[in-house]
Amino acid sequence: MSTARTVSVPGDKSLSHRALMFAALATGESVLRGVLPSADVRSTAGVLAALGVELVTSWSSSDTLYVTGRGRRGLLMPNRELDCGNSGTTTRLMAGIVAGHAMRATFSGDASLSRRPMRRIARPLTQMGASFSFASDDGLPMTVQGGELSDITWVSPTASAQVKSAILLAALVSGCSARVQEPTRSRDHTERMLAALGAPIFVTEDAVLLDPVGQLAPLHFVVPGDPSSALFLIASAVLQGQPLEIVNVGVNETRSGAFGVLQRMGVALSFANEREVGGEPVADIHVAPCRGLHGVMIGGDEIPALIDEIPILACLASCAEGETRITDAAELRVKESDRIAAVVSNLRAIGADADELPDGMVIRGGSRPLSGAIITHADQRIAMAFGVLGALSGNDVRVDDPACVDVSFPGFWELLASLRAAP
Ligand code: S3P
Repeated sequence: MSTARTVSVPGDKSLSHRALMFAALATGESVLRGVLPSADVRSTAGVLAALGVELVTSWSSSDTLYVTGRGRRGLLMPNRELDCGNSGTTTRLMAGIVAGHAMRATFSGDASLSRRPMRRIARPLTQMGASFSFASDDGLPMTVQGGELSDITWVSPTASAQVKSAILLAALVSGCSARVQEPTRSRDHTERMLAALGAPIFVTEDAVLLDPVGQLAPLHFVVPGDPSSALFLIASAVLQGQPLEIVNVGVNETRSGAFGVLQRMGVALSFANEREVGGEPVADIHVAPCRGLHGVMIGGDEIPALIDEIPILACLASCAEGETRITDAAELRVKESDRIAAVVSNLRAIGADADELPDGMVIRGGSRPLSGAIITHADQRIAMAFGVLGALSGNDVRVDDPACVDVSFPGFWELLASLRAAP
């Protein structure tokens, strides 16, 4: 039996964005380690720099990043557009921060981001007192006029951490209180980071409440490895029947739904060295050599905790025995691409058997070799999911835009290739 390779993955993207934003709003100097040096996180850093924040880094993942905070409401009016690149988290969370400042700013982004819905944050932030204008019906460019805001109670129709966080950040900046209710709990990194900084945040069964915050203390935060990135490497090991250990991965239960799905599919995963870092649960993950995968049902309340992992779970399902049915995931249609259409059309393009559902997909797995060309639509997770299938010997899968993975996982292709070469 081969011995397990031990690898690590770059820092968590959601946490990296938030650490930079909280550091910018803190009073004093924050020290951040393990921040993901990806294009999306650089978009957040660029937007913060345009708002007067001083950041010191050379953007290598081993680097420590020093951020001089401007205080809870101390950002400066930008003299240029806030270019968010491909990053929905940058746009939506920073719109909340801008809404709480007496300033006007225009957000722009690439073609994919410009098509994504932004009224979902404009609605609650308008109720708080900000005003928004859109160049077209929805999406970017979007201009935000911020100012004095008032308290809010918001019942969100979708489980979205970006919407929830935009509201919490607007309330934080403007010294208001906020209560946000969601149909199912979305990722809770913002709440955990606020709690770790001593903010009066309360989490009930179905809602999150933030009371007015005074000053925000600076952060000393170490970003754990990204579980969404880890999933691609785990999937590759599973398909190749190899053992693998990935150290220092975030295992927050609002993010780790895909681990449970893998276990239901027949993967033996175990978690060692479980600990808490900066208020976030972290562990080392062991993957035992997999002897066979079977299809599963994925849906209901588990979806928000695995929404970003559906492309790779679908690719794994195409190699499993039996049918996998994914439902309640209509949110996939408004990600970096329409991920339901992109996953199903690409699976079909390489000879797998899959159909779209309005809110998900059905995949009938098999063991035939897969071959063909993948259209990523510049979507990193489509590129990486199909890249994992392409790394399997016997398959011939060509990805049209491999470089797009840099928005979330720089070094992905090299790491994937090194696993393939492992004994
Ligand atoms: C994110 C929240 C999720 C997720 C995205 C990152 C975040 O989006 O899909 O990749 O960091 O808050 P939604 O809030 O739109 O569900």
